[in-house]
Amino acid sequence: MPDLNDEAIRAPQNSDKKVHPKKVRPVSESLVKYRALRAQAEAGGPPEKIEAQKKRGKLTARERIAYLLDEGSFQEIGLLMESRCTDFGIKDKHIKGDGVVTGFGKVNGRPIAVFSEDFTQLGGSLGRTHADKIARIMDMARDAGVPVVGILDSGGARIQEGVDSLDGYGEIFLRNTLSSGKIPQISVIVGPCAGGAVYSPALTDFVFMVKGISHMFVTGPEVVKAATGEEVDFETLGGAQTHSSKSGVCHFMANSEPDCFRQVKELLDFLPSNSSEPAPAIETKDSHDRKVPLLEKLCEMDPRKPYRVHHIIWWLADDHKFMEVHHGYARNIVIGFMRLGGRVTGVIANNPSHMAGALDINASDKAARFIRFLNCFNIPILTLVDVPGYWPGVAQEHGGIIRHGAKLLYAYSEASVPKVSLVLRKAYGGAYIAMNSKLMGGDFNFSLPSAEIAVMGPRGAIEILYSKQIKEAKDEERDALKAKLAKEYSDKFASPYQTASTGSIDEVIEPASARATLIDAFELLRGKKRRDSGGPGNIPL
Ligand code: HXC
Repeated sequence: MPDLNDEAIRAPQNSDKKVHPKKVRPVSESLVKYRALRAQAEAGGPPEKIEAQKKRGKLTARERIAYLLDEGSFQEIGLLMESRCTDFGIKDKHIKGDGVVTGFGKVNGRPIAVFSEDFTQLGGSLGRTHADKIARIMDMARDAGVPVVGILDSGGARIQEGVDSLDGYGEIFLRNTLSSGKIPQISVIVGPCAGGAVYSPALTDFVFMVKGISHMFVTGPEVVKAATGEEVDFETLGGAQTHSSKSGVCHFMANSEPDCFRQVKELLDFLPSNSSEPAPAIETKDSHDRKVPLLEKLCEMDPRKPYRVHHIIWWLADDHKFMEVHHGYARNIVIGFMRLGGRVTGVIANNPSHMAGALDINASDKAARFIRFLNCFNIPILTLVDVPGYWPGVAQEHGGIIRHGAKLLYAYSEASVPKVSLVLRKAYGGAYIAMNSKLMGGDFNFSLPSAEIAVMGPRGAIEILYSKQIKEAKDEERDALKAKLAKEYSDKFASPYQTASTGSIDEVIEPASARATLIDAFELLRGKKRRDSGGPGNIPL
């Protein structure tokens, strides 16, 4: 570690210029002291801890900030703050910065606030000063209207500081909540995140994790074993894969830390700095009326054949760019960001390649939360509908599909940003209503000619409507009767025309022109007056 006598700190730092020895001016002792202090504080933990960090394939706290921010843009705040705790011999371990690097910088030219926990210093544990630094940055970010990116790598509450460190989490949770919906908050987990500490990321908008490096859990494997007898390793209990696919805690999974920070930057490019600003638009060379031949093919396809809705999204999006959120979780619904005519648009799309695109508990939660994010941050919503209904089963009913499904209805109804939908194929029953239907507040509701919009699918419908005739039919005639009845039903209801005749579909559109139609619709809605919610409602949770 450098000290006051270190020659290296006597020359101005970050200077590549070779200065002739005769021209070196004596440096004042205050400057020498200042540079020594900085160098000492910036060095991080002891070399062996840094080496251990590297051996695990992890970056240091400052390297992470360097990956995230535009070069030379970081302005640190609170470098010299340190803990005031003296218990359990921790006085000898006092460190400048208290195990977290905090400050401001720019990502692709736009300002953000950042904090980065340093596992090489007291295991990145959160003492009161550490928490105060994070809270201060969060307050400044909210006042300035800029996003906060938190980089977490910590053993949790600093045990030596007792309740003072628990209170530190309290002040962070409060700020996470006060900033919610006002500025985007992103959590990047690049190490352990255990106990109550997991709740700060859970209160933020997006959580990133890295395979093999990030672990999140309320109680670790040992406590789990003692309490329940279950044997589980860190990765299975709370690794990136688990939280991306099973719990839904993690929105973006990366293969490495550099890959993770690249993804964070990509996401930030879609987000406004705060809730009073529009999301950043960009010029696109992708033509407004580029044809989408895939939608013509979809009209010709067997309506029971599965397909990945991603293909449709890629075809519609500017430059075929789509950033999917929550890729591995509740894959029956797809959510994410794209641009249409240069403007950021949030997409919610049923995905027939998984569970036939039906809505279930997890899909409802996933979409509802995303819709609420989009509504908070002025991002228009495109809904692509191909939904056969709700996923049936005892597990769904007992798991609370009524309660969870209601979140989706609430989120769509509450959202006052421009909302445009396109029915691709099926839109049946309650799920038709839930997916941004006209009378629930859709601004423009379009449909392809091949869409089937009805209370239920033909097969189910005729079994109820004609149960007596079907039962009474001779065995050898039953199938033919069913086919005839199903066709009659389809001709009457399983098309978009009955719905278009009542005005619940605004227009049945030419499939290949869908991109132009959608861009024009959003363009028209740009001046849409946002509804005043008149205070918070009570979303079913
Ligand atoms: C103080 C801590 C610490 C903590 C780690 N360290 N966690 N110091 N408070 N919470 C220190 C270690 O003593 C060690 O110091 C250094 O950090 C590195 O830790 P290691 O154990 O050597 O590292 P590793 O083997 O990688 O294990 C990492 C770990 C483990 C899995 C995170 O340290 C661990 O289990 N820590 C405790 C986790 C925990 O239970 N935290 C409290 C959760 S409850 P030296 O000096 O030896 O290098 C909580 C409540 C929050 O956070 C409530 C909010 C409402």
